[in-house]
Amino acid sequence: MVQLHDLTFEPYIHDTDIREKVSGLAARINADYGNTELHIVSALTGSFMFTSDLVRHLHMPCYLHFIKVSSYHGSTQSTGSITLDAELKADLAGKHVLISEDIIDTGLTAGFLHEYLMKKQAASVKIAALLFKPNAYKGSLPVDYPGFSIPNDFVVGYGLDYKELGRNLKDIYKLKDS
Ligand code: XMP
Ligand code: MG
Repeated sequence: MVQLHDLTFEPYIHDTDIREKVSGLAARINADYGNTELHIVSALTGSFMFTSDLVRHLHMPCYLHFIKVSSYHGSTQSTGSITLDAELKADLAGKHVLISEDIIDTGLTAGFLHEYLMKKQAASVKIAALLFKPNAYKGSLPVDYPGFSIPNDFVVGYGLDYKELGRNLKDIYKLKDS
């Protein structure tokens, strides 16, 4: 059990299973892209741990970009509004791009990033997400590389936070009694 601020979280996905899932996702990405140059766009802050674990298993020439998007604003419910804190400076025209997300909930963030990157005239934009909440998903885009499909529970750990705490936990926890 883990206490973060006023909420209690219980163990949910163990570090061993996360590592197995991440290397499995990387194997699929390696198989699909081969030696094609890939631009990873990691959505901070939550995806920092997933991205760093994922990329160490990738074999193609890999560029890394970090972008800061906020949609939760410190609660356990999405607000539906997305803010981009800093523009991506890189020229992605004609490049193959992979969005790396910690979790896809409603899909608003991934949809927003996809559109943003397509406007930069990327040759292709695909989406990898460690966690996916299919019952909350309202997007129309396919999630190309989904890790764990989970119910609509609020989760923390492995990059994910509750009011900025819990990001350093190596396992994933879910809100108790949710
Ligand atoms: P959307 O709804 O845009 O949400 O797909 C994606 C972003 O919302 C955050 N998010 C969560 N953060 N536990 C968290 O700590 C959760 O269960 C959760 N669900 C969504 C996250 O920042 C993600 O990038
Ligand atoms: Mg958050």
